[in-house]
Amino acid sequence: MGVNVRGRNFLTLLDFTPAEINYFLDLAAEFKRLKANGVDHSYLKGKQVVLLFEKTSTRTRCAFEVGARDLGMGVTFLDPGSSQMGKKESLEDTAKVLGRMFDGIEYRGFKQSVVEDLAKYSGVPVWNGLTDDFHPTQMLADILTVKEEFGDVRGRKLTFFGDARNNVANSLMVVCAKLGMTFCACGPKDLWPKDELVKKCKAIAKETGGKIELTDDVKEGAKDCDAVYTDIWVSMGEPEELWAKRIELLRPYQVNKELMAMAKPTAIFLHCLPSFHDRNTTIGEDIYQKFGLPAMEVTDDVFLGKQARQFDEAENRMHTIKAVMYATLK
Ligand code: CP
Ligand code: NVA
Repeated sequence: MGVNVRGRNFLTLLDFTPAEINYFLDLAAEFKRLKANGVDHSYLKGKQVVLLFEKTSTRTRCAFEVGARDLGMGVTFLDPGSSQMGKKESLEDTAKVLGRMFDGIEYRGFKQSVVEDLAKYSGVPVWNGLTDDFHPTQMLADILTVKEEFGDVRGRKLTFFGDARNNVANSLMVVCAKLGMTFCACGPKDLWPKDELVKKCKAIAKETGGKIELTDDVKEGAKDCDAVYTDIWVSMGEPEELWAKRIELLRPYQVNKELMAMAKPTAIFLHCLPSFHDRNTTIGEDIYQKFGLPAMEVTDDVFLGKQARQFDEAENRMHTIKAVMYATLK
């Protein structure tokens, strides 16, 4: 039977079947080919989308904007300072208004319940551009990048090193379970994903032939690993005071040459970005001054090395987000 996700929300990958996830990935690969060959694909002319950002963004915002324009759609961007949402107007009222004007709504912010409420009240497809719990559009780009490297992803092992209960790690665990991959969360026990989500993912993995592993041992996490993944140690919305504690906890899980050498020789390095791999950011320099660390979650040699695929991954954000918008709006 054909896959049809028209009119659906995109809030977490838990809501999608493996066939539907593969459909998004195939569509994204096709859009990537069309764009590379300069073939017009403005299939959604006349439609309008709105992008709501309560947290900052480079990739996600640009991916939605460029993706929507390539599809022929109009785009409106609202940052936290430029709408009434939450301050003078309830979420419910805002959703109802936006649903009258736009064909689709992207939301990036804090609580997962906000993106769920936007979906509940707007009556149009809502796309999750990152919440504290999940970052589902990121995962499509990540898996597309793994597919481009290895072909079939089933049976491949992806290990997330670091803060393994953040939005990116949660979503990776879900997508790996759905696609029959092995997901390994490698970090200190205090930062392992929540039991409830682990249980859900283990149940999914049982059906698909995937595996969910949790370990605080770097060697075990890196063993037989095809994709080494990391993310920043303190996520957006978390207090700055956390840096000292996180550095202490996560230093052993830094992705460096030694760690990469423990993975398969064919392994690739992935990072959702932005990354603190050098001192060329204000936060990176500040951490160096305070803690003497020239890099945090990944060292510069790995970030600039031959195994690194994070910029392919960043480009793939655009092709995959375009696929999500097209499939749900067409
Ligand atoms: N990876 C990602 O979501 O990047 P931005 O925060 O720049 O959107
Ligand atoms: N975990 C990170 C991801 C950024 C794309 C954050 O939420 O800040």
